[in-house]
Order: sequence, then structure tokens, then C-alpha cells
Amino acid sequence: MAVAEGAVIDPAAVFPDKREVWIELGFGGGEHLAAQAEAHPDVGIIGTELFLNGIGSLLRHVRDRQLDNVRIADTDSFKLVSALAPASVARVFLLFPDPWPKVRHHRRRFVRTETLDLLARLLKDGGEFRFATDHTEYCTWALARIVRHPDFVWNAEGPADWRERPADWPETRYEQRARAAGRKPVFLSFSRRPRG
Ligand SMILES: C[S@@+](CC[C@H](N)C(=O)[O-])C[C@H]1O[C@@H](n2cnc3c(N)ncnc32)[C@H](O)[C@@H]1O
Repeated sequence: MAVAEGAVIDPAAVFPDKREVWIELGFGGGEHLAAQAEAHPDVGIIGTELFLNGIGSLLRHVRDRQLDNVRIADTDSFKLVSALAPASVARVFLLFPDPWPKVRHHRRRFVRTETLDLLARLLKDGGEFRFATDHTEYCTWALARIVRHPDFVWNAEGPADWRERPADWPETRYEQRARAAGRKPVFLSFSRRPRG
């Protein structure tokens, strides 16, 4: 799907017959997005990716599993999150985003206050933001920004809640590679606080 400059996208109009809409930013090979779409046929999922091979991979999943609830925005994630209507999305997935490890590149990291403001705007009250990373320093950076953001609350009650991937959170290709390289991913879930 196209995201025109300055457009406002109402996800309910994109998926008029679905109970709610989720988005996945930078879906890579699309294995998580496809698994979620297959497990939740009553939900519409919009995914962003810039990498053409990744888009091709998700299209193969969509064809093989005959999914009717997936839309692909082959555009920058920032463009999609800026365009989505307020309080219109129930879940956001950001799985293993590029960590931009060099200090001079930190401003390119997806998790920063301006983008958290955009996610808080598009999420419905009580909506969920799921974030995974295998990069310890990016994890610390992101957590510091999310927990001090007034609109988000971290759902973890103990270490198992972030060290172990929940059963309804399918593995991605990038996670497999991280584990094979000996890195330990974290799985963070946040809720959007109800608007006052
Ligand atoms: C490290 S990979 C992780 C892919 C996938 N989420 C996974 O867990 O396997 C990061 C992905 O984000 C995509 N990406 C990076 N910046 C993006 C942006 N601004 N908009 C959309 N996708 C982006 C990259 O093309 C890449 O596929």
C-alpha cells in the first residue's frame, strides 16, 4: 500500500471487516508477521520494510498461507507511523530494529522520544508496543526512554517476562541468527496508558 506525503491513513478503512489493526515495523523476512496474521485471521496487519528480498519473502508467506489480512507498505516506518490516524492501532511490533551502535548514528535509532510520541498517538488506549533486541546498549537506551515516557507502562513483573519470548510471539530469522551467535535477546512489552 502507498503512503502519500501528508496522508492520514485510517486502518479501519484499510481493513473494514477486521476487529482491529496491528502494525509491524521493519518486518525483515516477514515470518513473525505472517505467523501472527495466520493465527489471528480477524485482525488486519500492516507491515513496513525497505528491503526488497524481505518484501518478496513476506509475499511468498502470504501466497502460501492464503492470507487476506496483510498489507505491505514498502516505505520508511517513520512515514507510516506519522500517517496513521490517532488511536487507530491496537498493537505495534518492532523486532530487532537496526541498533545503529556508533554514537554519531544514535539519532537514527527508531526508539527515541519523537517516535515514541508518534506510537503513543496512533495506539489505542491499552494498546501494546512489543520491542525485541539483542543489543544490550540499545536495550538500555530504549528502556530509559520508554519508561520515562508518560504514555507507556512496562508490562514486566519479573525477569522471565523479558528474558523469555512469550508463546504468542513467533521467532524471527534475526532472532535465530542472534542466538546462533551467542547473543541473548530481550522481549519487552509496554501498554499505552488510557488517555485522561
Ligand atoms: C535487523 S533487521 C530485523 C528484521 C526482522 N524484524 C527480524 O526480526 O528478523 C531490521 C530490518 O528493519 C528494516 N528497516 C530498517 N530501517 C527501516 C525503516 N526506516 N523503515 C522500514 N524498515 C526498515 C531493514 O530493512 C531490516 O530488514
